[in-house]
Amino acid sequence: MVTEQQVLDALRAVKFPGLTRDIVSFGFVKAVRVKGELVEVDIRLTTANPQVGPQVEREARAALAQLPGVGEVKLSVTVETPGKAPAAPQVLPGVRFKVAVASGKGGVGKSTVAANLALALRQLNLTVGMLDADVYGPSQHLMLGCTEPPRVNEEEKILPVDGNGIKVMSLGFLVEPDTPVIWRGPMVMKALQQFLEDVAWGELDVLVVDLPPGTGDAQLTITQQVPLDGAIIVTTPQDVALIDARKGLLMFQRVQVPVLGVVENMSAFACPHCGYRTEIFKSGGGRRTAEALGVPFLGEIPIDPEVVVTGDAGRPIVAARPTSPAAQAFVRLARAVVEGLGGKIRS
Ligand SMILES: Nc1ncnc2c1ncn2[C@@H]1O[C@H](COP(=O)(O)OP(=O)(O)OP(=O)(O)O)[C@@H](O)[C@H]1O
Ligand SMILES: [Mg+2]
Repeated sequence: MVTEQQVLDALRAVKFPGLTRDIVSFGFVKAVRVKGELVEVDIRLTTANPQVGPQVEREARAALAQLPGVGEVKLSVTVETPGKAPAAPQVLPGVRFKVAVASGKGGVGKSTVAANLALALRQLNLTVGMLDADVYGPSQHLMLGCTEPPRVNEEEKILPVDGNGIKVMSLGFLVEPDTPVIWRGPMVMKALQQFLEDVAWGELDVLVVDLPPGTGDAQLTITQQVPLDGAIIVTTPQDVALIDARKGLLMFQRVQVPVLGVVENMSAFACPHCGYRTEIFKSGGGRRTAEALGVPFLGEIPIDPEVVVTGDAGRPIVAARPTSPAAQAFVRLARAVVEGLGGKIRS
């Protein structure tokens, strides 16, 4: 008997018309049910183009017909026209793109990637903000070198704090250093809501959102509150990371946020003296993960002790050592992210 996973994998062959991404990674496949030889698939698309629905239906049928063990296919394709839904109150009106940085598990370098991605986007002449939504271990205020607490303007809005040219807002401003905070769900949501509604972000090209590690309820709630345009998943070279990355992908699919791709952090070590590459962990896991998940691979960030030193010092490597291989890898990542957003931002 065919499995739901096989059905999903077959549907990955169906690209959203005009784009290179497939309907599964976009999160348009809402349900798959297998009952013996009968396969039922619900697809819900958002598009203003009347040809897209029938084309996706045709291609999905063709893809499923090729699967061994499939008898009858019941396909339900619903098309929603954008703009028809009642307009939600606009969150972050001056911010063009909101991009989350996530990871299936902790300690993979998510905050380091987020901070350096923000700086690399800044280097591409974009205006950039950082929303540190890591309720368990906020770190962006330190990593991006913010020395002052946020102030409030005449309109009673909180002003984000400048750190290396990035507008930063972090839960870390609200808690004493080294005090473990046990945030209860409602408190977290309230603080986050304030960050979205009461912070004077101003006009930004990109707001980078550093999410808490993992894929539990807290992460899901945050991704529902922040109207994200895309997400990147940070992983490490080891094979086991695939399982965590998959959980991340599923989480974003649930809230219909497109995953821009997977980035592999702490890749091979390039010796600063001779340039020789040593694969400290295994290599290629990030690329394989991206392939297995059907999302773009956004590149590798080498492991480099300077990444740690510069991050701890509040001037991450992209700002402190822009010519280093790690900094250049972050700039390539930034370009890939811009491209993933449709190249719609000037850079
Ligand atoms: N490419 C790299 N090379 C060397 N060290 C790195 C690299 N990326 C991150 N690190 C180091 O790994 C440690 C963990 O990184 P970081 O705090 O960014 O991870 P995280 O995923 O945000 O962790 P948490 O789950 O605690 O939020 C830090 O000490 C950081 O300096
Ligand atoms: Mg972190």
